[in-house]
Amino acid sequence: MENISIIAAVATNNAIGNKGDLLWHLPEDLQYFKRITNGHTVVMGLRTWNSLPVKPLPNRRNIVLSDVPLSIDGVEVCLSIEELLRIIKKDEQVFIIGGGIVYNQFFDLADTLYITQVLHDFEADTFFPVIFACDWAVVKESEIFTDKKSKLKYQFLVYSRFIRLKDLE
Ligand SMILES: NC(=O)c1ccc[n+]([C@@H]2O[C@H](COP(=O)([O-])OP(=O)(O)OC[C@H]3O[C@@H](n4cnc5c(N)ncnc54)[C@H](OP(=O)(O)O)[C@@H]3O)[C@@H](O)[C@H]2O)c1
Repeated sequence: MENISIIAAVATNNAIGNKGDLLWHLPEDLQYFKRITNGHTVVMGLRTWNSLPVKPLPNRRNIVLSDVPLSIDGVEVCLSIEELLRIIKKDEQVFIIGGGIVYNQFFDLADTLYITQVLHDFEADTFFPVIFACDWAVVKESEIFTDKKSKLKYQFLVYSRFIRLKDLE
């Protein structure tokens, strides 16, 4: 089975984005994202791709999901999840990096969630799925940090999915 993880920065009301942009600027979170995904494969929706200030993300295999075939330098474009699952190797570490539409589609396929929990509510138009405590266990929890500039408080959490019944069949 593929090794699929989700990585996202999520507000306490599950907000992740508004009008095509992120809701905050947290340099430490960007460093964390880089460290965790470095050398691996990142998968994103076309809108998230369009919002990236630097692209493709260096030292990572960049895959973009799009409903229309596109030719973009340094990127593989997939027209469906089925196509994506066909082109990733069994031992490849795949990170789903957003946005809302893509997180929703991969939520049931992922085994690990790397969540930067931003301890604040935000008005938004894009949200992360609800992480139910009956499905996910927190396996790593950082201290609570405060961003120097915005004063936002945030914490790095790693969740692991409880074993699924279908995996036991
Ligand atoms: N806080 C965070 O960690 C975080 C991370 C990433 C993004 N974001 C935010 O999330 C927002 C963007 O999210 P979004 O939900 O609007 O869009 P998105 O998930 O980034 O992209 C959605 C688009 O991807 C394509 N797509 C998705 N699934 C597909 C599939 N199965 N097959 C083919 N194409 C597929 C479609 O593109 P087309 O139909 O156009 O071809 C779809 O409209 C932005 O505000 C961004 O800043 C936040």
